[in-house]
Amino acid sequence: MKGINVNLQFESISQQEQTPLLQSLIEYSNRDIACFDVPGHVRNQGVEILNYFFGESVMRIDINSSPYMDNVSNPCGVIKEAQELLAKAYKADRAFFITNGTTQGIHAMMLSVINEGDKVLLPRNVHKSAINALIFSGGVPVYIQPEYDDDLGISLNLSVECVRKSLEENEDVKVLFLLNPTYYGACTDLKEIVKICHERNVLVLVDEAHGAHFPFYDKLPPSAMECGADMSAVSIHKTGGALTQASALLLNSKNIEGDKLLQTINMLQSTSASYLLMASIDGARSNLVTKGEVKLSKALNLARYAKAKINKIPGMRVVSDELLHKTGVYFVDETKLCINVKGLGISGYKVYELLYKDFSVQVELGDMYNILALVSIGTTKEDIDKLIKSLSVISKSEALGHENKDLNLSKDLSNNMSIRQITPIVAISPRNAFYSKKEEVTLDKSIGRICAECIMAYPPGIPIISPGEVITKEILDYIKLLKQNNAYMTDMKDKDLKNILVVKK
Ligand SMILES: Cc1ncc(COP(=O)(O)O)c(C=O)c1O
Repeated sequence: MKGINVNLQFESISQQEQTPLLQSLIEYSNRDIACFDVPGHVRNQGVEILNYFFGESVMRIDINSSPYMDNVSNPCGVIKEAQELLAKAYKADRAFFITNGTTQGIHAMMLSVINEGDKVLLPRNVHKSAINALIFSGGVPVYIQPEYDDDLGISLNLSVECVRKSLEENEDVKVLFLLNPTYYGACTDLKEIVKICHERNVLVLVDEAHGAHFPFYDKLPPSAMECGADMSAVSIHKTGGALTQASALLLNSKNIEGDKLLQTINMLQSTSASYLLMASIDGARSNLVTKGEVKLSKALNLARYAKAKINKIPGMRVVSDELLHKTGVYFVDETKLCINVKGLGISGYKVYELLYKDFSVQVELGDMYNILALVSIGTTKEDIDKLIKSLSVISKSEALGHENKDLNLSKDLSNNMSIRQITPIVAISPRNAFYSKKEEVTLDKSIGRICAECIMAYPPGIPIISPGEVITKEILDYIKLLKQNNAYMTDMKDKDLKNILVVKK
């Protein structure tokens, strides 16, 4: 690496304009090469339907690694160059391309530093990939309950105070894992948290799945690397503009060796990592550095415009910077429009469905009380106006039929949502539960038993219960309520959720 310094400003825009991997890939695909290697579609020669739908130029750059095009498992050519530019863009010491999403980034990050039995401090509202990384590694979770907003029915972030308290109560913790931001855009005071963790030799690993755009516009929250975290897994494909599944693992730590981290990544990365995905990171990175400020300021303005308009629609309310008054929230990403629809008397799941079915509007997610609309570098004013108009029509039609609708919803929810504040009882480690002898029992018979599987609504993919935790009536009631509201439930063995897998007695 060329003397990369964490504190460097973006070195020079002209360097960051370059896309070495993308460029080499195009040059390679333009050469008249007789290919006797994989993939078997041999550029654009074998599968016409793919040429037709994907376009020949895409098929021609879907190639395999070679000494000329470098290899992501041991980069020393164009991939190395592209990763170095990525590291500079994110102010990291090193950056690694990840082709199976931040899911794989989180697995690699945690597996590289957590050994069997190591204590890991983490909020309960983590994505399932973090829980699965504990199954792989044998780490033992010590949950910190994130702050919770009863009104919105969503978890916020961790307060500095509760992190400090948990560190004092668990002196043998090795790692703190946390989110920057949460799915809904809430960020903690990461810089202060990193400081108190490092004073105790605790590593800070960050899930930045929803924060790929942070370093490129100063009105967005600070990024994990800027705050001094040791590692961060970033979904460049979510808000950074790369192709779906393209992520990065960023490293900025004296305590973790880059080459050792690469070995762990290689255990999880395909030996045929997609050049389409990797080159899309190269292009997205260049776009973010050179044009990100303009595009992100436009996105932020659009989000603020949408907020002002949506707040005038009866029954709806956008919650963004208002979160700043709450404990555990120090920064908010306002490009995430969390639209609270409780006032309509129907759930966010229902509004999500109506938007798609009746108005051809696709939002990121619906939950009990809210829908989440992401405004990004690709969002147009026309799209925003379509969203506003559709919500306004939904508000009017729902208001007409209010008496017949789920008026009990709010009552049901306020009774049930409180379970989200209960810190789970971890009876055994996720790994021991996952590898234990299991049996299936009906939901009602499962109370008091140790759960052996993950159950969640997707999105957001946050486990409601995970392996090793004790099943309680409140958790079951919450699962039933989600089912009744047609939440898309996933990861459990019994898709009808009549039975649940528990650890055999
Ligand atoms: C908070 C959080 N972390 C991690 C992930 C996993 O990211 P990816 O889809 O890039 O694998 C997601 C996915 O939605 C997420 O919401």
